[in-house]
Amino acid sequence: MASRSQTFVAAVLCMLACSGAVVLVHAQLSPSFYAQSCPILESIVRSAMTQAVAQDATIGASMLRLFFHDCFVNGCDASVLLDDTPTMVGEKNAPPNRNSLRGFVLIDSIKAQVESQCGAVVSCADILAIAARDGVNLLGGPSWVVAQGRRDARTASLSSAGSNLPPATAGISTLASMFASKGLSLRDLTALSGAHTVGNARCSSFRARIYNDTNIDTGFAYWRRQECQSVGGDYSLAPLDATSPTIFDGGYFQNLMAGRGLLHSDQELFNNGPTDWLVQMYGYNPAAFAADFAEAMVKMGSISPLTGSMGEIRLNCRKIN
Ligand code: HEM
Ligand SMILES: *[C@@H]1O[C@H](CO)[C@@H](O)[C@H](O)[C@H]1NC(C)=O
Repeated sequence: MASRSQTFVAAVLCMLACSGAVVLVHAQLSPSFYAQSCPILESIVRSAMTQAVAQDATIGASMLRLFFHDCFVNGCDASVLLDDTPTMVGEKNAPPNRNSLRGFVLIDSIKAQVESQCGAVVSCADILAIAARDGVNLLGGPSWVVAQGRRDARTASLSSAGSNLPPATAGISTLASMFASKGLSLRDLTALSGAHTVGNARCSSFRARIYNDTNIDTGFAYWRRQECQSVGGDYSLAPLDATSPTIFDGGYFQNLMAGRGLLHSDQELFNNGPTDWLVQMYGYNPAAFAADFAEAMVKMGSISPLTGSMGEIRLNCRKIN
């Protein structure tokens, strides 16, 4: 009897595993990818991130955003890290990235440490995925297992960065369709937007909202206008979550419920629309946010990776080999 039911269980597992393998044949990421070639990878990244966040907590947020901007543009392939060359215009100067993305120096430093310990076996794309996870966790957010084995792109695209990354002016339907095109649901969109519980935005990213939007708390708009004039001072920074800008909590969602979203796109998630209920759920239940955020990060981290013999393992994250 026992052995028959074991056979049955094995058959069911096989049916699940085998069909899964067929569906996921392009994504051969695995948590133990570097178990032989670089077993200390995760501890190197963790200690580098711990030091960096202790010196400057905002770097945790910047790493997270860097990973998002990598994954949404031709998949999580470190294309965002490539510098421009005479023959290739990269993503760093695309409108969503220019004068805004940061964290490149820290990635270079982690990559150098990993290379000195393991040789050039770990991709920049995987280092970024782990650094983003650690950034979140070190600021008090959840942790998750980062599947690995992404390889690095040999090309980047300024125009893809421009067209695949949502602008702060986007409405809910644009946000929904841009995330859907990456296989991410409204629930993923809402949870992932909770990344704005940490980090900063430039005045130019929220000026139109604080001067012209009507679904905004008046006191909040007035407060924000003090350091973001209607003309000039484009680079003046404000926290995306003013209550706890360096703590990865559910504060972002509570802000939205009070009309205190900093970006127009933030407030779109709570504006009598399809995601209002999710904002409320995450606002009242931070544990639900933490769990859904982790799950959605795993999904985002598996957007069309280069695997097998595609791409390369870059020696320098800023240029192709
Ligand atoms: C839903 C659509 C999204 C829009 C329209 C959006 C837009 C923006 C904008 C305009 C900024 C400020 C940039 C600046 O002014 O320099 C920003 C910052 C940031 N975004 Fe998003 N974002 C979105 C989703 C996400 C997602 C999915 C993540 C990560 C999972 C993320 C993580 C961040 C972080 C951490 C910052 C702060 C960066 C720092 O302080 O260096 N965002 N975002
Ligand atoms: C607010 O809207 C008016 C009318 O459309 C426009 O002229 C003005 O530039 C907008 N202000 C900002 C800061 O976007």
